[in-house]
Amino acid sequence: MEVNKLVLVGFMGTGKSSVSRELSARLGWARLDSDEEIVKRAGKSISDIFATDGEGRFRDLESEAIADLLNKEQPGIIATGGGAVLRESNRSIMLEKSLVVALMADAESIIARVSKDEERPLLQGDARERVYKLLEQRRGAYDFAHLAIDTTGLSVQDVAERIIACK
Ligand code: S3P
Repeated sequence: MEVNKLVLVGFMGTGKSSVSRELSARLGWARLDSDEEIVKRAGKSISDIFATDGEGRFRDLESEAIADLLNKEQPGIIATGGGAVLRESNRSIMLEKSLVVALMADAESIIARVSKDEERPLLQGDARERVYKLLEQRRGAYDFAHLAIDTTGLSVQDVAERIIACK
């Protein structure tokens, strides 16, 4: 496939950011991140955007950021937020302009990962309960990707190698 973008999609805590770093280092392609782009453009954190402007506004900023990152000329690895796949328009532009790779993981590995790090507005309260509920709601949401990798038991290096082998 003749594209110069690789998009990583997947539920929160499936390793999109760490794998994008590894791929960027191995391929020499720029590391791009839709959440980072949104924060830069809005001048506030994702939690603040959700709290003051609402999820709808966040999703609009997310769609804009994804389209702009995909339209850059330079080759890049784009890590997206877990909900970036919810809009059909986002899915179709990703499929059109990049190789889309879905990172999958089981619920317990996701919970272990998200419990370690920072604030995620959709996981406030009982993170375990929220993860199970959202996984249920998003069942099948990542199936549109060109390639899916089950990251369970794999290191970041292993995942990157598998992606490069399929590229
Ligand atoms: C979200 C995932 C987050 C971030 C926002 C919403 C989601 O990104 O975009 O909090 O809807 O799944 P990560 O998947 O990088 O945590």
